[in-house]
Amino acid sequence: MNTNSTRAPFPGHPGAARRVSDLLPVFPWDKLEPYKATALAHPGGLCDFSVGTPVDPVPEVIQKALAAATDTPGYPTVWGPVELREAIAGWLHRRCGAEIGPQAVLPTVGSKELVAWLPTQLGLGPGDQVAYPRLAYPTYEVGARLCGAEPVEYDSVDELDGSRVRLLWVNSPSNPTGRVLGADELRRAVAWAREHGALLVSDECYLELGWSAEPVSVLHPDVCGAGHEGLLAVHSLSKRSNLAGYRASFVAGDPVVVRELLEVRKHGGMIVPAPVQAATIAALSDDAHVAEQRERYAARRSALRAALEAYGFRVEHSEASLYLWVTQDRPCWETVAELAALGILVAPGDFYGPAGERFVRVAFTATDERVAAAVERLDAAR
Ligand SMILES: Cc1ncc(COP(=O)(O)O)c(C=O)c1O
Repeated sequence: MNTNSTRAPFPGHPGAARRVSDLLPVFPWDKLEPYKATALAHPGGLCDFSVGTPVDPVPEVIQKALAAATDTPGYPTVWGPVELREAIAGWLHRRCGAEIGPQAVLPTVGSKELVAWLPTQLGLGPGDQVAYPRLAYPTYEVGARLCGAEPVEYDSVDELDGSRVRLLWVNSPSNPTGRVLGADELRRAVAWAREHGALLVSDECYLELGWSAEPVSVLHPDVCGAGHEGLLAVHSLSKRSNLAGYRASFVAGDPVVVRELLEVRKHGGMIVPAPVQAATIAALSDDAHVAEQRERYAARRSALRAALEAYGFRVEHSEASLYLWVTQDRPCWETVAELAALGILVAPGDFYGPAGERFVRVAFTATDERVAAAVERLDAAR
């Protein structure tokens, strides 16, 4: 007997009662593909500044730590060994001025994972709002949608409904704009969040990549006062240590919230692999490789910035992070097309919200050779 005609579609199949992917925005990068094809056809090859992915080697001190930890047959713990949590707390103290102990930190499997699942793991859902900057890393919105909360964009916290926002994202230095929030602005956001009982989560993935401004952590006592109540800071080693391939990151702040996340994530098996835990300790205990990598980025940034300005672009913000946020005061896709014809691929600003529709984001995460090639092409096309 054939019963298939009455059978409901399998979960995950089209037509299933509820498919999570239907709740999510369309993955925008596919839209860039035709421009990538154009840029690839340039006789001098593609200069890809569209994605902020590191291209320089993983520092040797980190590779060695990873290699030395390959014989790890047992399960690692979600919280990691105390040496890892001390290395994280030590780094937060040294680089962020945070008074924090190893009980208030938690390793994560790349910070994108945390950004996407934090609202779910904190029990947010329908009726709650998750707020994030009007121009932002798209995963804040994804995190809201995954748990059925309402995503809300803001320019100023004063626009927000304090009775509904349960989680408030700030991101300094910002992706995509490179903007740095001063201690005053961060203090205002902290005060607003605490007044309304919203958890403030500060994404500080680019904190060590300030160029013309010194980024400050929300966990610094000048910003948050004596304690970290109602606050989390999200950090990643992807950019500062060329570790995007390792998935090495952590969250730190309010010890009660960290403990709650630990409980949930233990049940969910969200474990950083043991070799990556070891590599993270080595990476956070060494500042020399960060200084070296910063030098590389600084040189690429100033070469590209000068070439883009001479070509006719205006640079806004961009005082930190790995991006130049630039405009020709016309629709971003026209700029994407114009640069693709020169073999240069950039990200359209509208990937980060409609407010970015007249900007493009230029990631200076390409080799010196590719940056020099792009500079030459921009100069020649002026
Ligand atoms: C603002 C911001 N947050 C988080 C991430 C995720 O970083 P990762 O998952 O590599 O730690 C990125 C990556 O580009 C980012 O730009």
